[in-house]
Amino acid sequence: MLSHQAPADTIREWLANAVSIAALTGAGISAESGIPTFRGPGGLWRTYRAEDLATPQAFARDPQLSWEWYNWRRGIIATAEPNAGHVALAELERRLSHFTLLTQNVDGLHDRAGSRRILKVHGDIWTLRCTVCTRAWRDARPSLPVLPPKCACGAMARPGVVWFGEGLPEDVWSAAVEAARAAQVLLVIGTSALVYPAAGLVQLAQSAGAKVVEINVAETPVSAMVDLSWRASATAALPQLIPPA
Ligand code: APR
Repeated sequence: MLSHQAPADTIREWLANAVSIAALTGAGISAESGIPTFRGPGGLWRTYRAEDLATPQAFARDPQLSWEWYNWRRGIIATAEPNAGHVALAELERRLSHFTLLTQNVDGLHDRAGSRRILKVHGDIWTLRCTVCTRAWRDARPSLPVLPPKCACGAMARPGVVWFGEGLPEDVWSAAVEAARAAQVLLVIGTSALVYPAAGLVQLAQSAGAKVVEINVAETPVSAMVDLSWRASATAALPQLIPPA
């Protein structure tokens, strides 16, 4: 990278020379839509204990409490709008032939921004899954009238998200690994890169030869290893990556 070249110019060059491109997003991309992150200032895990709400054991112990928390989060997400960062990634997908979005976010804002090639490695808060017959269905009501919600089979439903200590959905995860391996450029946006196996996609892509770009307002454990770490917000940086029409 020529020292005087703006990060956006360098990244656009890398994108223009790449065939396969992937982006990995975390809670930081939704922060400017008013959705709290997990570990940043005002982050959910600063106020709540993950082990009380987001593990299979917590749900077994007190499904009502867990559901009240997920229902509260659904309410917040329902009032939020996709921001310029989400919109820019949807535009990159439209403009670039092989663009895959790998997200750790369960909020569905990428879908609402128009992204289509999305791999949700941590699931989706708008999906419910039966704890017995495992049927999964979509329920986009901002607030669920009855908690815990029930499946048509009568059994209790759980949120369609991945909890700590649970494996990621195999088909989605193997497609995410494939996309990271095949990428010539991996954009890493708004994630603390602390939660594995998702954070491992960064190293996996780089060792497969990708140029890795981090966009984050703060330093993370991968900042020193990526090819370009851009200290910027998602809404400020991502629109600059859209190739001129
Ligand atoms: N633009 C870019 N980056 C931002 C912005 C912003 N506007 N605001 C915050 N960030 C960065 C923070 O600096 C931090 O590095 O986003 C990151 C958010 O990190 P976390 O809160 O840890 O969220 P995430 O990395 O997505 O967490 C991973 O952990 O709790 C679990 O399952 C949950 O998917 C989640 C996973």
